[in-house]
Amino acid sequence: MEVIIKKNYDEMSKEAAKVVKKRILKKLNLVLGLATGSTPLGLYQELVRMHKEEDLSFKKVKTFNLDEYYGLDPDHPQSYRYFMNANLFSQIDIDLANTHVPDGLAKDIGKYCLEYEEEIEKYGGIDLQVLGIGSDGHIGFNEPGSSLGSRTRIKTLNEQTVADNSRFFKNIDEVPKYAITMGVGTIIDAKEIILLASGKNKSRVVAQAIEGPVTSQITASMLQVHPKVMVILDEDAASLLKKRDYYKFVVESVEKF
Ligand code: GLP
Repeated sequence: MEVIIKKNYDEMSKEAAKVVKKRILKKLNLVLGLATGSTPLGLYQELVRMHKEEDLSFKKVKTFNLDEYYGLDPDHPQSYRYFMNANLFSQIDIDLANTHVPDGLAKDIGKYCLEYEEEIEKYGGIDLQVLGIGSDGHIGFNEPGSSLGSRTRIKTLNEQTVADNSRFFKNIDEVPKYAITMGVGTIIDAKEIILLASGKNKSRVVAQAIEGPVTSQITASMLQVHPKVMVILDEDAASLLKKRDYYKFVVESVEKF
């Protein structure tokens, strides 16, 4: 696990965008796993800038989003499909047919989730997965107690998650209580993963995920077993890491070799 600590949110976002750009330039039909939430917004803005100013093209890129609220129409302003269209897809040259966000209105959920997994496989798996982290340690919507081998399925949201995400809705009763999410096992199958976290309010859970035991109570801790994970943090999110200085030293050393 490579832990990169940047000065602030802006630097964190730019660092992540640099990696995404590099991977796209290496493989034009990159299969990119995407996340929602406020954390990756800066990354998406930077990718849009790179598209407009540096000719970065997404024409052949395929995307798979981690999750979607169950019961929300794709046109609902708080749906993750709406979020992705508004914050990224509509501002770059991606073919919308190449973008996948779980369908929050799927009827036969079991069958639909299997098909989502099959679709990812059809493209040869996810090359690079971008992740944020929930304040209860979730990745995607894999709440505490999720099997570390889980696949795409419907999940009941934790009370904490509903409270956290209520800031985007008129009131807490409007927040969906279920979501369709890639499983921890699905996420871990990605060839490479970038986890982003910013702000003091994430510092405790980031320390648990990176330096604590691997546990289904903090599903992000499963990233410790993946061979190619880059954790990009700002100083605030990194503030409770015991080995901060060592991680910084490693980054400086890597630059030398
Ligand atoms: C939601 C999403 C996660 C995201 C998390 C954190 O629950 N399902 O993918 O990582 O929120 O969101 P934020 O980045 O806004 O803190």
